[in-house]
Amino acid sequence: MMEEKVSNNKEQNLDSIKIRIMPPGPEAKKIIDSDSEFLVTSTKSLPLVAKRGRGSFVEDADGNVFLDFASGISVTNLGHIHPYVTAKVEEQIHKLWHFAGTDFYYKEQVDAARSIESITPGTFKKKVFFSNSGAESNEAAIKIAKIFTKKQQFISFIGGFHGRTQGALSMTASKAIQQKGFFPTMPGVHHVPYPNPFRNAFGIDGYEHPDELVNRTLDFIEKYVLKTYAPPENVAAFLVEPIQGEGGYIVPPKNFHKDLRKLADENNILVIMDEVQSGMGRTGKYFASEHFGVEPEVITIAKAVASGIPMGAVVINSRLDFPESGLHSNTFGGNVLASVAATATIETMKKEKILDNVVNQGIYFKKRLLELKDKYSSIGDVRGIGLMVAIDFVKDQKTREPDVKLRDKVEYKAFENGLITLSTGTSAVRLIPPLNIKQSEIDMGIDALDKAIKQSL
Ligand SMILES: Cc1ncc(COP(=O)(O)O)c(C=O)c1O
Repeated sequence: MMEEKVSNNKEQNLDSIKIRIMPPGPEAKKIIDSDSEFLVTSTKSLPLVAKRGRGSFVEDADGNVFLDFASGISVTNLGHIHPYVTAKVEEQIHKLWHFAGTDFYYKEQVDAARSIESITPGTFKKKVFFSNSGAESNEAAIKIAKIFTKKQQFISFIGGFHGRTQGALSMTASKAIQQKGFFPTMPGVHHVPYPNPFRNAFGIDGYEHPDELVNRTLDFIEKYVLKTYAPPENVAAFLVEPIQGEGGYIVPPKNFHKDLRKLADENNILVIMDEVQSGMGRTGKYFASEHFGVEPEVITIAKAVASGIPMGAVVINSRLDFPESGLHSNTFGGNVLASVAATATIETMKKEKILDNVVNQGIYFKKRLLELKDKYSSIGDVRGIGLMVAIDFVKDQKTREPDVKLRDKVEYKAFENGLITLSTGTSAVRLIPPLNIKQSEIDMGIDALDKAIKQSL
């Protein structure tokens, strides 16, 4: 790992959990009050007021230090202010910030595209469109699919999350509140069940019967969707996550993506793979789709690609490129600072062998979480790949009935014990530390989580 220089020794070291005052403390409360006054109501979860971050730790407004197993929703994957990425952005900040990368040219944008291309699966020639967020990447992918196929309808999956702009929202189906009051969104979107092995519409235990779950899912799409109300001649693309993120960290059976792609190819339908949350090394491969043996022709990316400077990207097989200038563009896509951050992020991932750490620490993390599952019968499932993991709380191991209240309590107690987590799906807590996490930090997190569960029961 690269050496980090601590520049200001007046600041406390951010290397372990230190809860000095029960959060939110007085300074945090003041900021939370002003936030409520000046900012629109959104999706706030924990009353955490972040002030300074370093590596896997964050200091709040009252000097408490938290271990960060949320990573800004899987964005700060190299930890907070990684020294190399910081140095590169700092260097660039004195040269050029912005120059409208869709309308003009600069090397930094090409370098970023080349870096991203070098880590995306597929041996075919690829091209990149830069956006500023996950939703905007999906919007671009939708337009690419419409123009290329000359078709207008889409199929996405129940439990999927693709963003909150009108097109991306039309595909999103992980919580009813996301759609509440916004109809009509983009027309022509059909939702089908996702092969969730733990809880699914078919009542199958997908861990025990993965092939049956995949067959039932694809049969449903073929026989009850494509043959009844969404003929393939109308459907431009499937939009799917390789592992559902906001839907609860749902890992589908191994064959699902290959079989879905086969069905899509047979029907002249594209597959857009949404890797906004699962991509950029989170699962121990650069992209989660690699675990399933598929090479998507369209991959949407955002979150961790530039370590926290806003950036999104769509990587396509170059055969799908827009046929003429003017069909799609934006102002900030490929912004110079974001491009430099993206190149530096990918360079760091390669140099520091981040994927090896994700694989090794992922195995260790899973083992420690399974120990907790043995200890607490209210943990019904431990799932995920690499460092994209979640634990699901149930009222009953057999029925797998979600225990939402317990999950919420555990998340809050963990926060009070100095561990930042995020809920996901109906009753799961996701655990997404930085990808360069150390084993000792995982142990620290497990201790805080263990204590939180004990306090919540
Ligand atoms: C899989 C997936 N797609 C798209 C998005 C939307 O990204 P953004 O919030 O950057 O618009 C998210 C955000 O959580 C996501 O997890």
